[in-house]
Amino acid sequence: MHRLAMMFAVLAAAGSVSSAAPPAPTPGRYTAEQAAHGAQVYAQACVMCHKQDLGGDFDTPPLVGRFARNWADSNLASLADDLHRTMPQFAPGSLNAQDNAAVLAYILQANGEPAGTQPLPSDPAALARMPFKP
Ligand code: HEC
Repeated sequence: MHRLAMMFAVLAAAGSVSSAAPPAPTPGRYTAEQAAHGAQVYAQACVMCHKQDLGGDFDTPPLVGRFARNWADSNLASLADDLHRTMPQFAPGSLNAQDNAAVLAYILQANGEPAGTQPLPSDPAALARMPFKP
């Protein structure tokens, strides 16, 4: 009984800590949680070709470095659409909208974009208003 009461006290304290701080306006267009989910999708469906460091290899292009330069003038809707239609190469179109947005968030993170408080949307109209480089 005593142990249980203590557990509740600890949980309550933990809860009050996380809800005490009001969400500060952070830059970034995806959440850390979303990118973490994207990393899982990546590990299951992309890493075998695009590699752990997203650097690709001789027959798979990288998703960092020159990739960011190539996409610099595009918006995220075209990248999300391209990704959804063509990847993973062994099963194009198999990612659902949520996983597609998550893996895109992971790619933005790998390209140095900081996480924020708003999840990256999957809605093409919203993505079309977001340049690759914010
Ligand atoms: C079987 C190997 C393979 C797998 C698995 C794979 N890709 Fe690819 N990917 C490629 C190849 C090859 C290309 C280049 C040819 C093309 O665009 O179809 C490519 C191209 C891309 C591009 C465009 C790159 C550019 O320079 O514009 C993106 C973005 C991408 N892949 C993301 C992903 C993501 C995200 C996943 C996992 C959901 C994934 N790929 C899974 C092989 C793969």
